[in-house]
Amino acid sequence: MPDEPRCQIVFQPLGRRAQVAGGSTILDAARAVGLRLASDCGGEGTCGRCRVAVLGGEASPIEELERNLFSGKELAAGSRLACRAQALGDLTVHVPESSLWQEQAACRCTAPAKSWR
Ligand code: FES
Repeated sequence: MPDEPRCQIVFQPLGRRAQVAGGSTILDAARAVGLRLASDCGGEGTCGRCRVAVLGGEASPIEELERNLFSGKELAAGSRLACRAQALGDLTVHVPESSLWQEQAACRCTAPAKSWR
């Protein structure tokens, strides 16, 4: 069985590098190197929380739901949903801080309210 093509994804500004199989999503590549991107919808492409920008390299074509989510200016700047964009070759990806999973923010949203008596 031939080796499957591998792609290197560099996440900026953190500088983390993932080696993944071609066709892997950017979200899966991020997870492989312990980079936790916000993904409230679990990668269904509906929450818009996993926004990144592809700065260089070959990614899968932009999907319709991405065209509906991003402005033309954002698309021109490389904006993608990490859960939808797949690596077709080596990529350089910028991860904005707003797309990083923030434990404290998540706790505030999901923890049950405490009752102080
Ligand atoms: S994880 Fe929700 S849109 Fe990507």
